[in-house]
Amino acid sequence: MAELTLDLRHAPKERAYAQLHAHIIGVLSGIDDDIAAMATMSALIHHAFGHLWTGFYRVVEPALLRVGPYQGSLGCLEIAFGKGVCGVAAAERRTIVVPDVARFPGHITCDAHSRSEIVVPVVGRDDRLIAVLDIDSARLAAFDGDDAYGLERIMRWFAGEGRG
Ligand code: SME
Repeated sequence: MAELTLDLRHAPKERAYAQLHAHIIGVLSGIDDDIAAMATMSALIHHAFGHLWTGFYRVVEPALLRVGPYQGSLGCLEIAFGKGVCGVAAAERRTIVVPDVARFPGHITCDAHSRSEIVVPVVGRDDRLIAVLDIDSARLAAFDGDDAYGLERIMRWFAGEGRG
């Protein structure tokens, strides 16, 4: 049954993301509802890797992010563009990998256990920024280029050319 949650913590990242991507496509096939998709992707990504916090901040005003579906402890409700890792990734529309959040000026601490982070922009078909995907880890330097590649690919499928 396709709805099982994967455990990919011990798989090489490249293979893990290929498997996760295929799983997400299977679980979300025929679902044309962005909130349902964001909630489902948050749960699958979060539990597959055992992250600390996994979720979406949605663009609700020209320069404002508001929390969307997520897994983990209480997240900040709103983040202005340019603030924290999420706000910078949104303003600059680029993926940001932060190996050590203590060294990122202006990092917004929602959970004191967060040590490293990746934020991936979610860009729609009309080239509009819809949201950012924010993932926090309790481990230092948990994310690298393989995570950026794998997550960007999943976000392109979700918001871009991929889904029906
Ligand atoms: N770490 C984020 C803030 C959001 S929470 O940690 C869920 C940031 O600096 O953008």
